[in-house]
Amino acid sequence: MLIAVTRRIDSGALAQLEALGELRYWDDDLPPTPEQLRELLSGVDGALTLLTDRIDGELLDSLPDLRVVSNLAVGFDNIDVAACTARGVAACTTPNVLTQTTAEFALALIFAVARQIVPGARAARDGEWKTWYPFRFLGRDLAGATLGIVGLGRIGRRLAEMAGGIGMDMIYADEYANAPEYRRVGLDELYRTSDVISLHVPLTPETRGMIGPDALALMKPDAILINTARGSVIDTSALVAALEAGMLGGVGLDVTDPEPLPADHPLYAFDRVTIVPHIASATSVTRHQMSSLAAQNVVAVLSGTEPPHCLNPEVLKRG
Ligand code: DGY
Repeated sequence: MLIAVTRRIDSGALAQLEALGELRYWDDDLPPTPEQLRELLSGVDGALTLLTDRIDGELLDSLPDLRVVSNLAVGFDNIDVAACTARGVAACTTPNVLTQTTAEFALALIFAVARQIVPGARAARDGEWKTWYPFRFLGRDLAGATLGIVGLGRIGRRLAEMAGGIGMDMIYADEYANAPEYRRVGLDELYRTSDVISLHVPLTPETRGMIGPDALALMKPDAILINTARGSVIDTSALVAALEAGMLGGVGLDVTDPEPLPADHPLYAFDRVTIVPHIASATSVTRHQMSSLAAQNVVAVLSGTEPPHCLNPEVLKRG
């Protein structure tokens, strides 16, 4: 049994895989290029992949032995699941273990942007802290503010529960969710009436670019926009244009398009924009759990048992 791991990960997860077969390990913090990925995966039975690895039909066609691809993430927009299914490859993910951690981070970004934590910290470090300023770094109170959650899945719902604890009022837009404790609204109403908008949708053809010029134009002039979902849910050029036009009170981005965001990108020029490098699930416990779960998915499929989280379980029944 040959198993590829496409990035440097936790040794416990590697040991789980090594107990089953031989490892081909991309022992680096930076991802393989598409060519290197193809070479790394060639001839393997299973692969533990990252969200930076594009797994599409063309690549799968060159990997006839592959039986499972297990993404170290809950998101799977990097994997063509239909192409996997068509080729009998199980596609697996690591949901649940990161729900609380990611929701906490969304809340942290809301606080950071609402209270100017990053500009304040930067000013203190840069020697601009000369006295107690009565009217500088003024933020906004969150109690009583309306939080509009776009996508009330596991993470969005957990955020709603925690935000309720600080007195925010919740509304949500999600045609698949049913949460009577919060008010469901259409997207336009959510954009128009929210003080803080937090995005929790997967990246799909429908959600790509959904925060574009029209959505941004509906938002309150001082609205705060938070994205811990996928960068491409926001149309980056439209966001830059909106900020240049003085729209929005603040923006918190854990994810960007492109990702990584180059250091000279115009988005970094705005003090009211806080950008971090896709770290919402990055606590040591959660990343260990994600790694272990991703390894369990591979081990289970290759041992003929049911993996914890498979997106296309129908391929497992084919034997
Ligand atoms: C995911 O899991 O999809 C995140 O983006 C990384 O935790």
